[in-house]
Amino acid sequence: MPLRHHLAAVFLLAAFPAVSLAESPGRAVADPAIEARVADLVGRMSLEEKVGQMVLGGWSPEFDEKEIVDGALGILSNTGEAGSVAKADARARSVRHSIPLLFSRDLIHGYRTLFPMPLGIAATFDEAAMVTAALFTAREGSAQGLDLNLGPMLDLSRDARWGRVVEGPGEDPFLARRFAATTVEGLRAGGMAATLKHFVGYGAAESGRDYNAVDLSESRLRDLYLPPFKAGIEAGAQVVMAAFNTLNGVPGTANRHTLIDILRKDWGFDGIVMSDWDAVRELVAHGVAADEREAVEKAVMAGVDMDMASGLYGEHLASLVRDGRVPMARVDEAVARVLRVKMRLGLFDPPEKRRRIDPAMAPQALARPETREAARDVARRGVVLLENEGAILPLVRPPKRVAVIGAMAADAGDHMGAWGALGRREEVPLLLDELRSRLAPHGTKVTFAAGCDDACRSTEGFDAAVKTAKSADLIIAVLGEPWWMTAESTSRTRLGLPNHQQELLDRLAATGKPIVLVVFAGRPMVLRDVVPKTRAILWTYSPGTMGGAALTDLILGEATPSGRLPMSMPRAVGQVPISYDRLPTGRPWKPGDELATRYVDEEITPLFPFGFGLSYTRFTVGPPEVARDVVGLGETVTVSTMVTNTGTRKGRESVQLYVHDVLASRSRPRRELKGFAMVDLAPGESRRVTLEVPVAELGFHDDRGHYRVEPGRFEVFVGPHSDTENKVSFTVVE
Ligand code: GLC
Repeated sequence: MPLRHHLAAVFLLAAFPAVSLAESPGRAVADPAIEARVADLVGRMSLEEKVGQMVLGGWSPEFDEKEIVDGALGILSNTGEAGSVAKADARARSVRHSIPLLFSRDLIHGYRTLFPMPLGIAATFDEAAMVTAALFTAREGSAQGLDLNLGPMLDLSRDARWGRVVEGPGEDPFLARRFAATTVEGLRAGGMAATLKHFVGYGAAESGRDYNAVDLSESRLRDLYLPPFKAGIEAGAQVVMAAFNTLNGVPGTANRHTLIDILRKDWGFDGIVMSDWDAVRELVAHGVAADEREAVEKAVMAGVDMDMASGLYGEHLASLVRDGRVPMARVDEAVARVLRVKMRLGLFDPPEKRRRIDPAMAPQALARPETREAARDVARRGVVLLENEGAILPLVRPPKRVAVIGAMAADAGDHMGAWGALGRREEVPLLLDELRSRLAPHGTKVTFAAGCDDACRSTEGFDAAVKTAKSADLIIAVLGEPWWMTAESTSRTRLGLPNHQQELLDRLAATGKPIVLVVFAGRPMVLRDVVPKTRAILWTYSPGTMGGAALTDLILGEATPSGRLPMSMPRAVGQVPISYDRLPTGRPWKPGDELATRYVDEEITPLFPFGFGLSYTRFTVGPPEVARDVVGLGETVTVSTMVTNTGTRKGRESVQLYVHDVLASRSRPRRELKGFAMVDLAPGESRRVTLEVPVAELGFHDDRGHYRVEPGRFEVFVGPHSDTENKVSFTVVE
């Protein structure tokens, strides 16, 4: 665990000592005592008992006790409160061999207290914030007896049509790697293990249509989509979830290349691979298995150790072994992995050593003030200020009359976002209420009109909303995607504001009143018709339980925005997939060049670039300097620059470092993120920021999947976003 994570986690734990920082951070290593105990136990188990350990079932607060008594379950998922978990735990331990259950649930951004959706956590560009979100999520989940988070979701994506972008870390592999490592570390520090999902390439679904086919070259697979998973495993993750999609024609649930060649042989991963929900059965629909029995054989033999929710392992696996179609050795290998992970997580430890689930105490761990404060802080850091014409924000001298327009301002579900686990609507301070109560002391009267429901399929309420707006001095419009239009199976073909929201915004703009727009988004959207109508835009990816309070903190200037875009914002859906690390092509784009790579009806650049975000102050990032302009293959490039706050308010600047390999055996991206840091500066304050990049990071994979760094000249760009031209060169030598 890099020092800064330790510091972050230690700071947080010092503030909230209730959690023991994991004693052995970092990649899991084989422990001879555990291996001996695993081998002994496997040797004493019947075939049925072994198969039971390969089943992930449950899915209801009141589980089926018979499944546990029959030893037919290895992981119980989505269980309810601590009481039912404690009961199930005791029942499992009372069965022959006393093999404990793992308890799992999808907690990708919180349990009872919801943090911003993961894309909004990535938008903080702040590793301490990423650790915080995971740490407090795990503290709430583990207090309820949950051991295994079915997260983080690490699917890189450049395609905003795909609804699940909001569950992941965005378009860039370096940011995604940091998100992976910090989330795994934070979960462990909070008492939960991680499941890295969905392995692999799910975010590259053709046409952005969820579950659709994925085709990736070996080079692109290993340069972009695999690194976040490798980072998660290096950070100690013990479980991986196979992806629904086909990769180059082979479903993730039956893909020996990804699950065995890469995960086991290349990376030496010795933990559990589980399927996604019912994905074993889906091999029949994929057309790679004649029936469910063959689906089980294909999944097991491709390396899927655990079947989530289909029940087919329980139904067919024992007979497949008896018929000799699945070797007992393969079952033993899978069971050994399940038992190994359970032992590594301490579930086999004696009662006095292992974590106790105390149903009476559990509720006190939920929705605690410090957890809500952490969620508010991360939500603030994840908000991206896209526009602030005439510095209309912050409202230091709020006007007398403010009209809040838009159903989301008063919709707790839209604040919390998808995958809301045990989030409670009544525990969400609504943006509307926060604005009303905190503007009141300034003598400001806040009125409200929904205009339409959060999806805005009707324009009936527009006249009333316009009437409300006309009687105000300022409009705060709250628009975007309702929570149920985001996440799984919510792909869209259009990327503008949904349904009639643009029409509502146009009607509000026609009043001539200044508009501050707050967007609750589930993906990058096309804002070309929005920006001209608004004075300021605050962009959030479902800001979570405390998002309303966090947004009000920013609107009133009690905090200053520091979020940065984790995905490029396209000008038009026709540009998608789009990302900052495009190749130059043989005809690099130049304005006005009619034979360059271009569109005739749109620029090729995004409306707002990856890494972009404004603040309430202004910064200068000085020319980058390299400590040495010639470095060897095994060395590190040290780059520094002076950052100055030239404005009148304190603020946080994101300093991002990008590298371009100028000449190589393959065409290389115009730039690639290789470092970032946040720096807090008072007005007029300057600070030298230094970032280090191991030369080993500057390579790429060839089509056979071999990684190499090629000597030669590199350019390094340092600035506040991915379009900075602030650069210096260095040379790598053998
Ligand atoms: C869903 C998702 C996966 C989730 C699982 C269990 O289909 O693909 O991310 O962990 O089922 O809820």
